[in-house]
Amino acid sequence: MNAAQEYELTGPALREKLAVLGQTDYTLEACEQYADTIAEIKRLKAARRAVILAHNYQRPEIFEVADFVGDSLELARNARDVKNADVIVFCGVHFMAETAKILNPERMVLLPDLRAGCTLADSITGEALAERKAELKKVYRDLRVVSYVNCTADVKAESDACCTSANAVKIINRIDSDNVLFVPDQNLAAYVQSESTKNIISWEGNCYVHHQITPAEVDKVKRAIPGIKVLVHPECRRDVLELADAVLSTSAMVRYAKESAADKFLVVTECGLSDRLLMEIPEKHFYKACKLCRFMKMITLEGALDSLRYLRYEIEMPEEVRVKAKRALERMLELSA
Ligand code: 13P
Ligand code: SF4
Repeated sequence: MNAAQEYELTGPALREKLAVLGQTDYTLEACEQYADTIAEIKRLKAARRAVILAHNYQRPEIFEVADFVGDSLELARNARDVKNADVIVFCGVHFMAETAKILNPERMVLLPDLRAGCTLADSITGEALAERKAELKKVYRDLRVVSYVNCTADVKAESDACCTSANAVKIINRIDSDNVLFVPDQNLAAYVQSESTKNIISWEGNCYVHHQITPAEVDKVKRAIPGIKVLVHPECRRDVLELADAVLSTSAMVRYAKESAADKFLVVTECGLSDRLLMEIPEKHFYKACKLCRFMKMITLEGALDSLRYLRYEIEMPEEVRVKAKRALERMLELSA
């Protein structure tokens, strides 16, 4: 088999694969174009000694070029462990690519589109956190700061530990203090508080995607489809979490759906996850109470190709910030082991 054949995924084959999604924009013409771009990305990836890491919310065609697809925790671990590559192309949002760089500074880390941000990361700065921390330390001498990984390197650098949606409760319960300032997601803070006896002080940030999902939308589907299992991401509001059969990170939702005896699920998170579920578990039924994240959707196949072609956009940060942020991420990895 020559290199060209090895990478070949034809337009019709891709169209057949994506048909399960029932999306009308995957026409034969579009799939033929994607198939060419996918082949080109794979060729260039080998030439550049690059790996592509992709978040679960990415577009289905991105999954075709990814070496690994997962949630924030899995992606952080994967990025840290990349050894036989020079470049990591991160198909996700800025804070995720930054986390990869913090944990694996020897590699060049690229984000295909610098506009791929996050409303949670934008809701707090390192400076504002340092001020709040100093204020609260006067009241709680044992205060610890736990930052949800959806924040900038500056904020991580001001934190004692980070957490993700997959391990937030564990990190809070294991950190060595009863008083914790939890930033920046107010909804995740409320969820963690409901699972812990510690005193959680929260920040006023939220994810615009999850915060807009209402209990009425979820309840309507729940009533209409008896026996449906409701899977909710902990970035959702408290009144939505109350309707959940399980509160899970994105990858934990995939595992739950695979292992559960149930065959109908309502997926309450960003819509990209439903695409992954439909592609991986076509024999089960997935209903959506989901919204699109405009930041995640800024990453396209063309953008990933240009990222590899022109080695753009490189993630960099001051070494002093990186080292401090790394401590908080490593503390998370230790506490959640
Ligand atoms: P996960 O870590 O559960 O994939 O969540 C990341 C995220 O950005 C959710 O909006
Ligand atoms: Fe940020 Fe929300 Fe988008 Fe996740 S879904 S990247 S939390 S804006």
